[in-house]
Amino acid sequence: MSTTSVHPSVQAFIDDVKGILDEHGVGDDGLKRIAERMKALTRDRELTESVGPVGNVHHGQQVPELYTDETGLTLVRAKFPPDTNTPIHNHFTWGVVAVYAGRDNYQVWRRLDDGDGEGYAEVELVEEFIMGPGDTAIIPHPPQDIHAQQGVGEDTYEFVLFGANAMKGPRLYFDPEAKTAARVTPKKD
Ligand SMILES: [Fe+2]
Repeated sequence: MSTTSVHPSVQAFIDDVKGILDEHGVGDDGLKRIAERMKALTRDRELTESVGPVGNVHHGQQVPELYTDETGLTLVRAKFPPDTNTPIHNHFTWGVVAVYAGRDNYQVWRRLDDGDGEGYAEVELVEEFIMGPGDTAIIPHPPQDIHAQQGVGEDTYEFVLFGANAMKGPRLYFDPEAKTAARVTPKKD
C-alpha cells in the first residue's frame, strides 16, 4: 500500500509501536507498552473527529485502515453499536483496543480445548468489563485472542491495532453452547 496518505499522528504512533516491538518484543511487556501509547491516540481530536469513515467489522461494512504495511501491522477505527453483541470471535492475531468515544461492554473469552482452528471448540467467558474513553484492552496471541464487544447505550468508537491485517484475514466465530468454531472470511465489497 501507499504510505503517502498516512496521517502524521498515525505515522508517529506506528513509529513508536515499531520501536516498542523492536525493544520489548510482542510479549506481555511489549503489548502493555503499546496499550499505554494508544491512550494518547484516544485524545487526538483530529483522528477521532475527522479522518474518514468508521466501519463496523461484524456488520459487513468495510473498515478502512488508518495504517497497514507489509508486516501486517494494521490500525483501524471501528464502531460497535449497542443493539447487538458481536459474535464471540478472534482474528488470528494479537491486538490492542483503545476506546475513544462511548462505552464498550468488552468480553474476554478463553479457549479450553487444545485446538486453534474451526470445528470443535470449547470456550468460556473469563472476564467482562466496561471500557470508556482512554481505556485499553489487550487481545492476546492466538489461540487466546477471543473476544466480543458491544456498545453501552450508544455506539462506541475505538482504535484497534492488529499484528496482522485482520480486516482482510479470516476469523473464527465461536458458539459456546454448540462447542463449535466457524471460519468466516470478510466479504469484499
Ligand atoms: Fe474483534
